[in-house]
Amino acid sequence: MKTIKIQDVVARDGLQNEDQFIPTEQKIALINRLSNAAVDKIEVTSFVSPKAVPNMSDAEAVMKGITRQPGVTYSVLVPNLKGAKRALECEVDEINLVVSVSETHNQKNVRRTTDQSFENFRDILSFLSNERIDVNGTLGTTFGCPFEGSISEDKVLRLVEQYLELGVSGITLADTTGMATPNQVYRLAENVLKRWPELPLTLHFHNTRGMGLANVIEGIRAGVTRFDASLGGLGGCPFAPGATGNICTEDLVHMLKFIGHDVRADLDQLIDSAKYLQSLMDHEVPGQIIKAGKINDLHPVS
Ligand code: COA
Ligand code: ZN
Repeated sequence: MKTIKIQDVVARDGLQNEDQFIPTEQKIALINRLSNAAVDKIEVTSFVSPKAVPNMSDAEAVMKGITRQPGVTYSVLVPNLKGAKRALECEVDEINLVVSVSETHNQKNVRRTTDQSFENFRDILSFLSNERIDVNGTLGTTFGCPFEGSISEDKVLRLVEQYLELGVSGITLADTTGMATPNQVYRLAENVLKRWPELPLTLHFHNTRGMGLANVIEGIRAGVTRFDASLGGLGGCPFAPGATGNICTEDLVHMLKFIGHDVRADLDQLIDSAKYLQSLMDHEVPGQIIKAGKINDLHPVS
């Protein structure tokens, strides 16, 4: 059995996709609950154009308002140099860059070719070269694209290499619209880890087609120990048709604990946090454990 790191992305991937604006104070309260529940990493917000993603328009206030806990890494998503400068001002622990393997999705998302995105990343890494900030490189639409269909594994490996040449310290392979299948996950993760055995590799799944937790199991089997997930299972990309929620943090932790993996995060506190999240939202969140309870919750015989 393995130690698995839980990286919650609800405050970014979850809320970026909501029409309802969540007030800054509520975002801060939500993130503080996740910190107290001892997840390993929190993607706090994104420093993107507020016109492109209105729910992220309070990024500075959220980042500066949260109470940071030791042992938790506070990460933010950044699309360009302007975003990196804003993030640096807020003393984040990690900057997460994103480019899509699919040219079409990259154009929709950040209005750049993948080559232009990497040119921007070079500027960002040289701007950050004297700062003590980790940089993680995310590849979106790694397992399939809603516009282009299947994605070449060679291209994925080439872009991982490009990121590493620029000097990023970790890589995330993201399944932006839930197209990954378990056998594909095993094959790609195994290939990446064979080539870069020491690489801190994260897998980021959406449960759009119900394969999210099966993909985690196959990722672990291939040697991956870091997974992104979103409290309540919220999430999705505003620039991809049909994109729905990430795998659900409390459902993931529930599964991992009951199959015997070691997870630092506290399941009961996560479930309470997900109930708090539900109280903020104007629709039902997709998570299942907050509805069904844990497998060891017994009911009185009536
Ligand atoms: N933070 C705040 N504002 C930003 C910004 C940033 N990081 N980057 C650009 N802007 C603003 C500019 O100041 C400009 O504002 P103005 O219209 O008031 O003058 C406007 O956005 C356009 O700037 P430009 O440099 O021409 O960027 P663009 O139009 O090519 O947009 C992105 C590119 C990436 C900045 C924008 O599309 C974006 O933020 N997209 C969001 C991507 C995202 O979050 N996707 C989901 C997560 S993967
Ligand atoms: Zn995502």
